[in-house]
Amino acid sequence: MSSKHFLNDPTHLVTTALLSIPHTNPSVACDISNKIIYLKPSSSSASPSQVSLISGGGSGHEPSFGSFVGPGLLSGAVAGTIFASPSAEQIRRCIQHRVSREKGVLVIVMNYTGDVLNFGMGVEKARASGLQVDMVVVGDDAGVGRARGGKVGRRGIAGTVLVLKISGGLAAGGASLKEVSEVARLAAKNLVSIGASLSHVHVPGRAVNETSSDELQESEVEVGMGIHNEPGSERKVTDLPGLVKTMLSHCLDTSDKDRNFLEITSSDEVVLLVNNLGGVSPLELGGITNEVVEQLANDWKIKPVRILAGTFMTSLNGLGFSISLLRVTDTGLGSGRSMLELLDAPAEASGWSAAISSETWKKREEVAKEAESVDVDEVQPSNIRIDFGQVKDVLTTALNRVIVAEPDITKYDTIVGDGDCGIGLKRGAEAILSMLEKTKKTDDLLIFLNNIIQVVEVAMDGTSGAIYAIFLNALAHGLRSNASSSPQPVTAEVWARALEVSLQSLSRYTPAQPGDRTLIDALHPFVKTLSKAGDIDSAAKAADEGAKGTRGMKASLGRTVYVGGEGWQGVPDPGAHGLAELLLGLSEGLKK
Ligand SMILES: *[C@@H]1O[C@H](CO)[C@@H](O)[C@H](O)[C@H]1NC(C)=O
Ligand SMILES: *[C@@H]1O[C@H](CO)[C@@H](O)[C@H](O)[C@H]1NC(C)=O
Repeated sequence: MSSKHFLNDPTHLVTTALLSIPHTNPSVACDISNKIIYLKPSSSSASPSQVSLISGGGSGHEPSFGSFVGPGLLSGAVAGTIFASPSAEQIRRCIQHRVSREKGVLVIVMNYTGDVLNFGMGVEKARASGLQVDMVVVGDDAGVGRARGGKVGRRGIAGTVLVLKISGGLAAGGASLKEVSEVARLAAKNLVSIGASLSHVHVPGRAVNETSSDELQESEVEVGMGIHNEPGSERKVTDLPGLVKTMLSHCLDTSDKDRNFLEITSSDEVVLLVNNLGGVSPLELGGITNEVVEQLANDWKIKPVRILAGTFMTSLNGLGFSISLLRVTDTGLGSGRSMLELLDAPAEASGWSAAISSETWKKREEVAKEAESVDVDEVQPSNIRIDFGQVKDVLTTALNRVIVAEPDITKYDTIVGDGDCGIGLKRGAEAILSMLEKTKKTDDLLIFLNNIIQVVEVAMDGTSGAIYAIFLNALAHGLRSNASSSPQPVTAEVWARALEVSLQSLSRYTPAQPGDRTLIDALHPFVKTLSKAGDIDSAAKAADEGAKGTRGMKASLGRTVYVGGEGWQGVPDPGAHGLAELLLGLSEGLKK
């Protein structure tokens, strides 16, 4: 748990965060003394023609709820201090002064004692003054089972935003208060969520030891931790697949009498929401989302009709995520007002980040097919002939030699670079080997080379990946430019000329010259010797000597320049060494 923050005064933090919301959405305003964000009366959906929708709760869950105020979503949101409910008076003011009341007001809150009490009291006060107000409570959390939950009941977590969005879409379309309340209840009833966190969060302004007494171990994850650091159901040492498996079974396993709150079968339409609790990198959330989608498909035969992934309801910078599943249920309101259409309907709220329209979702299957078909690149056949079996054997020997050399390359690169050169080469070699096993036999060198280029471009990244890709593309170009008009076998001479051309092309994209301590120190002598001597054996030996000669060379290019570590004088350039091993492997393979 990190306790470093940019804003440490919790009052100042909440105030300034609320004040920021109108900066990013001109249709909303902020009543800062009551911590209310509301639609400006001039905004179209603040008009008397629609039911007003209000939500709120403690701060720390942004973008919930203030940033969900906007046309198509909330009419007003009331915030408390961090993790504490707003007061009944703040809520009453929001209902009575900040939203239009003519068609009625629906208040949606999550099932926390403080929120239910204060929002409930605010609603009662507004009703007492003669207003039409209804309240819906969402308890979607399956993190704590019936036995443990006891009187506390189910809390509300991120699935709540799906209820808000569906209700907001319906209200914007002019539905009655009764209709909006019923659909909100229907959505809440068909919803189940569960969270997991790697760590508690630090609340700005609190002493560190106040929150960290029960901190999780480095290897532990807590299943079911709430959005206010509340304890979950269990702590586990597990990997992501194991964690997701547990979470999904808590939501979906109907034989688990303690937790199964909702029966979802593979014939149901399901909406999946994977929510970032605030501190997970978007990169990791992507990996998590993919794991959830795959397990749903493989283990539960559920293929969600909508998948939303992003930051919708946080627990400050919580290092965790939650999974919510909504069983799509008939609203009974006819076309244009199904749960999915209401979920997809546009909403102009800065916190609502689900951008995909109904039309696009409907086209999903077609798009998947198109994407597959554009992947096939056409290659013009050529007249340069190879013996496929021989080329495959020679290349296999060479690539295996690169794989064997990986630990050395990695060791050198750990000293002079960032340590990933060996793994990158190995990944490329393995990918080509696996392509060789699967690819169709061809006696056309350029078709064969093109297959290799495609694998290299996908499997290898970084600078060396780019250099190999440019070099091989230029080689293909060089081979093609002089191919004869009738089928001819490829000769050492043809290779040598084409290699010269590609060496030249390479020099247009990298300034590296022999002596700069790069893979050029192996490539250059190889090409030159092959041109002169015409035999690959001596060319490969020249490459190897070139690579060995990089020991003691000072780098003037590449990452090595910035690495100030010790010991670089004693090791060769890892890229040059890797290439030399490949070339020695080719010569070795040809001798077999
Ligand atoms: C909310 O919690 C209470 C107990 O505090 C429980 O009785 C009730 O069923 C819960 N409501 C929902 C909608 O989950
Ligand atoms: C193409 O052929 C010409 C003439 O034989 C030769 O000078 C040139 O180097 C060749 N280029 C390649 C790429 O083989």
